[in-house]
Amino acid sequence: MKILNFGSLNIDYVYTLDHIVLPKETVSASQMQQFVGGKGLNQSVAIAKSGFPVCHAGCVGKDGAMLVDYMKSVGVNADYISVTDGSSGHAIIQLDKNGQNSILLFPGANDCITREYVDGVLKDFGAGDFLVLQNEINNLDYIIDRAFKKDMIIFLNPSPYNEKLKPDMYGKISYLILNEVELSGITGVSDIKKGLELLNNKYPDCKVIATLGEDGCIYSYKSETATQPAFDVRVVDTTAAGDTFMGYYISEIATGKSVVEALRTASKAAAITVSRKGAAPSIPFREETEAFDY
Ligand code: RIB
Repeated sequence: MKILNFGSLNIDYVYTLDHIVLPKETVSASQMQQFVGGKGLNQSVAIAKSGFPVCHAGCVGKDGAMLVDYMKSVGVNADYISVTDGSSGHAIIQLDKNGQNSILLFPGANDCITREYVDGVLKDFGAGDFLVLQNEINNLDYIIDRAFKKDMIIFLNPSPYNEKLKPDMYGKISYLILNEVELSGITGVSDIKKGLELLNNKYPDCKVIATLGEDGCIYSYKSETATQPAFDVRVVDTTAAGDTFMGYYISEIATGKSVVEALRTASKAAAITVSRKGAAPSIPFREETEAFDY
């Protein structure tokens, strides 16, 4: 069984400030730092740092060498990554004094995925292989469709939640990993329990995991549920916490761990990520996650 992540790669510009800028307001940042990020990249990095092999496909611009080099340095197979004209995707992240963020995204090369490129990558993967997806690249519906026809097991993080996500996609997804905003966007209800119930009824073959920040996470599938409280850490920066959770969860499932074990390990890894600044570099290696003292 192989894992392929078809996903975004971004250069993150992180501005540290007192509070997130309001309309018509101007705020000076005390610091600006550049990190390697993007939901797709972060998830691949989490899988690789947890110790499972992962191939990443996606597009960067000519300025994207730092993204590819970082992935390779932590063991992600970057052979499928394509370099396009124009610039790489980037994110402008405001980070406030409580570690909360707001993200402005410029897709750049992440929107240069062609159907030919998708077909070229997917030809090397088949039934039973895992496909990891988020909503920061174009042609997502095409990728899902092709992978579903190949009987790949599809993990989708419907983030960011927007009009590019179509209801007919969800019936092809095996694992939906989402936060409360995405759950309410898809179901139209803000109550978590009710939202999970609606998803389970409408997509009975899809395992759903809701990540709820400091309220932990809930797994829900048919009549089965499991919960995991969040680990209590000092929040420095929540960026990439969800990506870390997803990457670790997938890796645990790939190695045959139970749902309960996978939720616990993924939550530990995410707790470490929020206690550090930045996206991909804040994601812990397996040894750090195992040594996590709570
Ligand atoms: O999930 C965090 C990521 O979202 C950041 O790294 C940023 O690039 C945005 O894509």
